[in-house]
Amino acid sequence: MRSLITGTGIGVPRHVVTNEALSRLMDTSDEWIRVRSGIQERRYADPGQGSTSLGVIAAGNAIADAGLKPGDIDSVIFATMTPDHVLPGNGPLLQVALGLRDIPTFDIRQQCSGFLYGLELADLFIQSGRYRRVLLVGAEVHTSFMPWHLGWDTLIGQSTREITEAERAENTASRDRTVLFGDGAGAVVIEGRDGVAGLGPIRLHTDGTGAGVLTMLGAGFKRRPFVTHEQIDAGETLPIMSGKEVFKSAVTLMPQAVREVCEVAGVAVESLDLVLVHQANLRIIEGVQKALGLPAGKVPHNIERYGNTTAATLPILFHECRQQGLVKPGMNLMFTALGSGLHWGAALYRT
Ligand code: ACO
Repeated sequence: MRSLITGTGIGVPRHVVTNEALSRLMDTSDEWIRVRSGIQERRYADPGQGSTSLGVIAAGNAIADAGLKPGDIDSVIFATMTPDHVLPGNGPLLQVALGLRDIPTFDIRQQCSGFLYGLELADLFIQSGRYRRVLLVGAEVHTSFMPWHLGWDTLIGQSTREITEAERAENTASRDRTVLFGDGAGAVVIEGRDGVAGLGPIRLHTDGTGAGVLTMLGAGFKRRPFVTHEQIDAGETLPIMSGKEVFKSAVTLMPQAVREVCEVAGVAVESLDLVLVHQANLRIIEGVQKALGLPAGKVPHNIERYGNTTAATLPILFHECRQQGLVKPGMNLMFTALGSGLHWGAALYRT
C-alpha cells in the first residue's frame, strides 16, 4: 500500500501586491527585492479572511479534484503558523465550513516544514490502516503580522491616504521581513493505493538550538499577560529573523536531506526528475539546485508570484506543476523544506 496524492487544490487571495506598491510604504525597491529574493509580487488576504478560509477553498478544490465528496475524508491535518485563533485550531473550523463528518482533525505547527511533516503523518496514518483518505492543508495569512496602523491598508485599496515620514521610517525597520511573505493555501488529498506510485521514504529533522534564528517573541504564554500594548509597540508581534543564518542553514540542510532520502531509497540524485523546494527565496532555491548538481529545469519555482507562503508553498507549487503538465507518470519527485524550529527534511514521491 502506498500513500498516493489523488487531488490537489489551491486558495489564493485576490489582492496582488507588487514590490513597487511596497516601496510606497517603506524604503525599498523592486530591484532590491527581486535581486535578493526573486519575489516580484505576493497575494494579500482581505481583512477577516483567515488561513482557515483560504484553506477551505484549497481543500474544497483538492477534494473535487480527487473525485471525492467532503464526507469521504477520514482525517484532516492542517499545517499553519498563522491560525485564525490561538484556540481552537483551524481543523474544527475547516471541518464545519467544508461539511466534513466528525472525523479527527490535527493542527500542526512546523512552520515552513509544515507540509513535509504533514506528509509524514498522513503516510503513517495510511500505512497503519487507521485512515484511508487524509486531507492535508497548508495555509497562511502572514499579513496579520504587518503593522496595519502604518498605512498598509493602502496596499489593498482600502485607503488612499499618503503615509507620513514617521510611518515610513517605522515600516522600513521591518522591511527585511515584511517584503518576503505572502498569503495563500494549498491542499492535497492522500489515499492508500496499491502499486509503485506514492510517497517513498521521508526523513525529518529538528534542531532546537536554532530556535532563535527565526522566532516571534511577543504574544506567547511565557509572558504575563501573553500579549501587551508594549509588546506590540516594541514590534515583538512580528517575527524576528537572522536572514543570513536561515540562508546558510537552508542551502546546506535541504540538499543534505535530499541526499539522505535518495540514499535510503536507492535513487541517484541525478535521476530525480523534479525537486520541489520550499519557496523562501529564489537564491536559496538556486543554491539547493546547484548543491545537488541538477539543471534548473528540474527545480521549478513560483516564488516570484507568491513570495513565501510558509506551509502553503509546497502544495501550491505541486498543484501548479501538475496544472502545467510538469508532473508525469513514473517520475521521481522530491519535496524538501526548512524553516523555523529549525525543522527540515525531504520526502520522495513516485508519480
Ligand atoms: N529593501 C531594501 N533594503 C533592504 C531591505 C529591503 N526590503 N531589507 C534589508 N535591506 C538592507 C539592509 O538594511 C542592509 O542595509 P545596510 O547594508 O545599509 O545595513 C542591506 O539591505 C543588506 O542587508 P542584508 O541583511 O545583509 O541582506 P542579505 O543579502 O542577507 O539579504 C535576506 C537579506 C533577503 C533576508 C536574506 O538574508 C535571505 O533571504 N535570508 C533567508 C531568509 C528567509 O528566506 N526567510 C524566510 C523564512 S525562513 C524560510 O522560509 C526558510
